[in-house]
Amino acid sequence: MEYPVGGAANQWADSEPPPEFTPETHCANRSPRVNSLCVTAFRNYGAKTIECEAPLVVLTGANGVGKTNLLEALSLLAPGRGLRRAAIAEFQLQEFSAAMVPSLVAGLQGASQPWSISAELTCATGDYQIGTGLDPSGGEVQKRLVYLDGKPQKGQAILNELLAVIWLTPQLDRIFLEGSSTRRAWFDRIVASLLGDHPKQLKAYEQAMRERMRLLRDGHQDGQWFAALESIMASQAVAIAAARNTVLEGLNRSIRSRPETIFGTPQIAIVGAVEEQLLQTSARLVEESLRQDYAAARVNDRVTGSCSIGIHRSEIMVSDAKRGISAAMTSTGEQKSLLLAIFIAEAHLIFEMRGEPPLVLLDDLPAHFDQNRLASLHRILSALGGQIWLTGTNRADFASLDSQALWIGL
Ligand SMILES: Nc1ncnc2c1ncn2[C@@H]1O[C@H](COP(=O)(O)OP(=O)(O)OP(=O)(O)O)[C@@H](O)[C@H]1O
Ligand SMILES: [Mg+2]
Repeated sequence: MEYPVGGAANQWADSEPPPEFTPETHCANRSPRVNSLCVTAFRNYGAKTIECEAPLVVLTGANGVGKTNLLEALSLLAPGRGLRRAAIAEFQLQEFSAAMVPSLVAGLQGASQPWSISAELTCATGDYQIGTGLDPSGGEVQKRLVYLDGKPQKGQAILNELLAVIWLTPQLDRIFLEGSSTRRAWFDRIVASLLGDHPKQLKAYEQAMRERMRLLRDGHQDGQWFAALESIMASQAVAIAAARNTVLEGLNRSIRSRPETIFGTPQIAIVGAVEEQLLQTSARLVEESLRQDYAAARVNDRVTGSCSIGIHRSEIMVSDAKRGISAAMTSTGEQKSLLLAIFIAEAHLIFEMRGEPPLVLLDDLPAHFDQNRLASLHRILSALGGQIWLTGTNRADFASLDSQALWIGL
């Protein structure tokens, strides 16, 4: 499979790691970084601005002070719902925080205005100001607006053009034990960080699938209507499966081709009919046969009330390649390590495909990883040159990074 490899990534052979970046080279180069972040009426913040022009930023403070909320604001510099996959309304500052944190009472004066986030950004093509927030015009469906240098943008696609944002949160620790839909959503998020059309294709597929199920439930017999929806499902399913296969192959290659780390050697596989067929035959033939399969499945799907075939049933399987066992069978600590190894591979693949590193958000890692692993992870990720954000309750937990970080106490 061929990748649209960016210029910078070509400078280094696969076996040769990119040069180490220091704070000085980081500011001189144009790797994506956030120089300042300002949130208004967002989560527990009435108004908060932080200056953060540094390659490594560590947010520290007591439980509940708002560390993850700031990472979440940064995650909204990418398209989508952010690192908690929250609904738009959940970002709005609610009054309950004031009871718990009296200092917020002043900030609550801003609660009546719609939440917003503004970031000064440096990236390869220049310096930009990104704004995003709740559409103040209201309306039945709440919308998130995006502004670039003060100008309103159509949709969120511009965010993906400017930078890639990736994150690890404690919630992901159990990803290999979760049900298949949660793991699929996790993997699709990785695909989306690399191939920007992926969320749009998933949305179109799901909408058509829901509409087809509604017709089946309501007893419609109009063959043309079904055929039109199944045609959308088939074409989107092929695009989605192809994107998953591309990223799967890229991640596995990235893991295999780099020197082994203390995080182990995961192997990712997809068990899904569409993904598997695409490896054997042309996309056109897979799409055609899928269209026929959907038509043939109508009777059965009407009885069961669910769509029996398609990419929404694919399983993402992760195993420990060295031991040849499923990740779910490894210990808690080993699972976290395998997750980190995939995360590192994702960061490398983004660097390779986009020609620049992602913005990396790591929430509450010290609660889950010892100093040794933390330092190792930082060393590997910072070699890519992108900005890294960490959160934790104790500065002492980051002792290994002490001299290199910009510390922001909340
Ligand atoms: N929409 C909202 N409006 C007001 N407060 C909110 C909103 N959403 C969440 N909060 C509050 O924000 C506070 C900070 O949450 P956050 O998850 O950022 O804490 P944290 O500093 O990461 O804590 P921990 O160290 O426990 O992970 C919490 O008390 C939470 O209840
Ligand atoms: Mg937190």
